[in-house]
Amino acid sequence: MARKTLRIAMNGVTGRMGYRQHLVRSLLAIREEGGLDLGGGDVLWPEPVLVGRREHALKEIADRHGLTEVSTDLDAVLADDSIDIYFDAQVTAAREQALKSAIAAGKDIYTEKPTATGLGAAVELAQAARAAGIKHGVVQDKIFLPGLLKLKRLIDGGFFGQILSVRGEFGYWVFEGDWQEAQRPSWNYREQDGGGITVDMFPHWEYVLHELFGRVRTVQAHVTTHIPRRWDEKGKAYEATADDAAYGIFELDGGVVAQINSSWATRVNRDELVEFHVDGTEGSAVAGLRNCRIQHRATTPKPVWNPDLPATESFRDQWQEVPDNADFANGFRAQWELFLRHVALDEPYHWDLAAGARGVQLAELGLKAAAEGRRLDVPELAL
Ligand SMILES: NC(=O)c1ccc[n+]([C@@H]2O[C@H](COP(=O)([O-])OP(=O)(O)OC[C@H]3O[C@@H](n4cnc5c(N)ncnc54)[C@H](O)[C@@H]3O)[C@@H](O)[C@H]2O)c1
Repeated sequence: MARKTLRIAMNGVTGRMGYRQHLVRSLLAIREEGGLDLGGGDVLWPEPVLVGRREHALKEIADRHGLTEVSTDLDAVLADDSIDIYFDAQVTAAREQALKSAIAAGKDIYTEKPTATGLGAAVELAQAARAAGIKHGVVQDKIFLPGLLKLKRLIDGGFFGQILSVRGEFGYWVFEGDWQEAQRPSWNYREQDGGGITVDMFPHWEYVLHELFGRVRTVQAHVTTHIPRRWDEKGKAYEATADDAAYGIFELDGGVVAQINSSWATRVNRDELVEFHVDGTEGSAVAGLRNCRIQHRATTPKPVWNPDLPATESFRDQWQEVPDNADFANGFRAQWELFLRHVALDEPYHWDLAAGARGVQLAELGLKAAAEGRRLDVPELAL
């Protein structure tokens, strides 16, 4: 039995995603279970080195979790030959430069999305990583969610017949920050700081649609800022220069039509914070983060339109819950494990910087389509 340690420089662990999902729920959770089982008695042991701007905040996290290494000097960390992987969960605007430096230093890379703020930079990163011969991965957590894994199982099992359309609803009310604190960081609402719901969410929709239903061929979008003034972490008012709602329509390979609403200015009247309603000739499904319910052709009721009468049946009750039939891990952890196996064992892994660039492309084209009021083709990236 051998224990292989991978030293992972984690930048942005004081943030929401870096701390909770990547450090605590992924790498520390793997350590709590004795490391990642590589088979044959071998175990991979992830060793986080916390990187950031504020030493006291990093030390505080390290102490809380029994970690020892922190640094505020990214260049020095990247120059350290003992570091195997660079991980980035910084604010989006800070990512491109850090990834470039990490690639130049020959580190393998794992990063949050979006990989860059523009398509040109995202493509350059993918090309540089390929030229450097490093391993690279981009977070695409949504397809590892239990609800979407159940949806994938339905698709693979032929449940839908011909898939016709997908309607996605994502979002919730993000408080403005005046009388109740906002529950998301303020940079998300300032375009100049890399914010905006389109650059945030369209990268997710690109891989969800692509992996489950087909490559996105065209995009139309209406993008807007519903709430123009918000209050930041210090209680100071600021102008919300970034979009907080994006209403998109996407045509996919094979003719499936997908329509996805993303909004930070909507109040939830759904079972989960994101839901995808899929209609097919043989059946339909509604998949959320954890659950998935279905209605088969044979159990589809026959409603008759008559506004003069109250509804006589509960349409919600006519759906059936899809059973788990499996243990589902945290989606971020599941993807980390696959990436670590890719690095350690050279197992295949396709959620890379090229996939990340496709997400940035869809966001950029979505914003352009909205600005020009047009439907735009989404050309296949030659990477
Ligand atoms: N995969 C997902 O579902 C998902 C969800 C939310 C956010 N994200 C992505 O994760 C990244 C981080 O988002 P978050 O919500 O954790 O943000 P956050 O504001 O909570 O954390 C940002 C981190 O970046 C650091 N940072 C570095 N340079 C900075 C600068 N110049 N200004 C401010 N902070 C700076 C902060 O110290 C902090 O550690 C973003 O790129 C976002 O798009 C992904």
